Amino acid sequence: MPVKLQLSFAKTAPKGDVTTICLIGKNGDIIPHLEKDVAAFLIAAMATAQFTGKAGKSLMLYNDKQSYLLLGTGDKLAPGKEAETLGGKLFSALGRTASKRGWFPDHKLDATVLADIMFGANLASHYFESYFTEKNDENNSVRLVVGGNALDENSLLFQERQALANGVFMARDLVFEPANKLYPAEFAARCSALSALGVEVEVLDEVAMKKLGMGALLGVGQGSRRDSFLVVMNWKGGGDEAPFALVGKGVTFDTGGISLKPAKGMEDMKWDMGGAAAVTGAMCAIAGRKLAKNVVGVVGLVENMPDGNAQRPGDVVTSMSGKTIEVINTDAEGRLVLADALHYTETRFKPQAMVNLATLTGAIIASLGREYGGLFANNDDLANQLVSAGEATSEPLWKMPMGPAYDRMLKSHIADMKNIGGPYGGAITAACFLARFVEATPWAHLDIAGKAWSDSATATVPKGGTGYGVRLLNRLIDDWQGAQISAVTDKPDS
Ligand code: BES
Ligand code: MN
Ligand code: ZN
Repeated sequence: MPVKLQLSFAKTAPKGDVTTICLIGKNGDIIPHLEKDVAAFLIAAMATAQFTGKAGKSLMLYNDKQSYLLLGTGDKLAPGKEAETLGGKLFSALGRTASKRGWFPDHKLDATVLADIMFGANLASHYFESYFTEKNDENNSVRLVVGGNALDENSLLFQERQALANGVFMARDLVFEPANKLYPAEFAARCSALSALGVEVEVLDEVAMKKLGMGALLGVGQGSRRDSFLVVMNWKGGGDEAPFALVGKGVTFDTGGISLKPAKGMEDMKWDMGGAAAVTGAMCAIAGRKLAKNVVGVVGLVENMPDGNAQRPGDVVTSMSGKTIEVINTDAEGRLVLADALHYTETRFKPQAMVNLATLTGAIIASLGREYGGLFANNDDLANQLVSAGEATSEPLWKMPMGPAYDRMLKSHIADMKNIGGPYGGAITAACFLARFVEATPWAHLDIAGKAWSDSATATVPKGGTGYGVRLLNRLIDDWQGAQISAVTDKPDS
């Protein structure tokens, strides 16, 4: 059974069966100040175990009734990734001890490094237990007490990371949920809960979307017994400035529709709302941090089912933009949802920039494996800032090409375009399709099909829903420098 984390701050070590955590620098330097006999014991034990404080290495030691968890930092522990990874390892190692209780004595660390360690531990501690009848009881939690003066519950550094973790966890939970529990209406309800943080939430139902002419989005949902929704989450922390816009694909289940997917692995398509989850989690984090900027999040929520009323291959739909689409393959549904969500967001909010996230294509996994999200953009300033934000948050992106040669593959003989390209470059033609629904706004599309779910844990991201995108978007908006409209690349000649 996995365990949770309870973090607290205190001046003195807790009594009882507690593991003392010691970071060890290069050459085996013990970083915290310890009593002489304890230090002597650790030095001797490290020599015996040939533990030199290499980054990523750990050692558990027992002396009488005391236990010590030694964690190597290497040369110097950098804030960000390194400190977070160490925190993740700290959490896992503590979870394997009998008492699961830890004391982190004063290490005279930089407050940011310390906050990042605790953030990493927190990120590692998430798990999804809604559908186990036997829940984890509080006594089974990892309890970590942090000493020193650098940080406490009220520190901004701590609270900001706490709010960000809440956003990541919200996204992970949404991704984990099965599709019989999380359908469009339920997803919309989870979005509405963000009003408690001061987010203005509007839910557009099918009647409202029909009025707006969203034929592309509605066509995808028409084969489902579940109603489709479009949710707008508006955080107004920045006065009159144009907002930054985030748009997400929220297909709560993707059977493929009439172009039905094969049975093997179809259960994975419960997380075809990973883009919408990232947007919702990012809004949660931004509102939780009370960011002094305007950010609007828009998610298109549909279920793609085969049914007597489902759309057929060959159907022609009219999008909100007025452009018509020949639906060759009903399994290329995410782009249909986003076509309307993007056009709606751009025309209503006139954002300074717009980023959409979507588990859009299997082809992006063929291209990049599971290491990077695919980045497609019409603007180099925006693309560069996304790459930097991804690098800083361990949510990396790789820039992919677009351009007229790919865009031409979308030509239809009966409508303005068809919804799939040729047999190759499927992630790119999908991006070109989306580009046709964006006018002049600096825009980027992140294809996160390889990143929303993970079958193997890392130090800070347990198996399952990763929450990928939340930290990336949070950082992007924090560091946002604006984009020159002239920094335009890859404009398709449609
Ligand atoms: N949701 C899928 C893409 C996907 C695949 C996400 C694997 C996560 C893991 C998307 O709707 C889809 O079905 N795309 C098709 C497009 C094709 C029909 C042009 C695909 O990738 O095969
Ligand atoms: Mn599909
Ligand atoms: Zn899909």
